[in-house]
Amino acid sequence: MSAPSVITIDGPAGAGKSTLGALLARRLGYLFFDTGVMYRALAWAVLRSAIDPENSEAVAALARDLDIQVLPPGSATDGRPYTVLVDGVDVTWELRRPDVEQIVSIAARHPAARAVMRERQRAIGRRGRVVMVGRDIGSIVMPDAPLKIYLDASIDERARRRTREIQQRGGSADLQHIRDDIIRRDSLDRHVSAPAADACIIFSDGLSPEQVVDIVIARIDESGGDSQDTRAYERAKNPDSAGT
Ligand code: DC
Repeated sequence: MSAPSVITIDGPAGAGKSTLGALLARRLGYLFFDTGVMYRALAWAVLRSAIDPENSEAVAALARDLDIQVLPPGSATDGRPYTVLVDGVDVTWELRRPDVEQIVSIAARHPAARAVMRERQRAIGRRGRVVMVGRDIGSIVMPDAPLKIYLDASIDERARRRTREIQQRGGSADLQHIRDDIIRRDSLDRHVSAPAADACIIFSDGLSPEQVVDIVIARIDESGGDSQDTRAYERAKNPDSAGT
């Protein structure tokens, strides 16, 4: 099977995008790139600098200055899917802190800060062989991507999954509190979360992560690796190679 060189996965918080992205990337031998960590890294830096997360100019200036690196987990044995360095500091687990969760949607809302993040995301996407996960990847960051998935699930299912995920990491989680927080974040994120018009929408209630991966793989098989879409993407990426 030859897969499209860029696969985008968008959808609301807790829909299972990261789980799907990591599994799919592993199956295809692709890079897994969770763009949410860039906004979390920005939120972490906002807290570190004691900037007002509502201050769009200050947040955008910080975004421009920030060195964010998302690397393979290397020799870490704590179950991390990747290592995130902000200005050289390993913040991988700190990005999951409740105070980061609390402000990330606010820090991620400013257009100028988003423009900086999107350009960096595009640079990684253009290299190809990547599964990119986020909110606006198929619609805005990589609109020419040959395969776009929009993963959705009911609020109750998303709250249950998030609770389980936190508990599996050894944290304590209250289902009702998490459900309320998902509703809060949906409303803050909704301006960036619309599916691309050509996205394949998967509603994952009642499906295991492996079943969702199988649906995506079936979709890739159906479209054929050398699909028109893939060739169009390659041409858009490198106009000089048109026709090859
Ligand atoms: O997927 P996540 O929970 O790690 O995302 C963290 C925040 O970043 C969330 O508020 C949505 C936002 N985000 C975004 O606005 N655009 C993206 N491409 C990815 C995440």
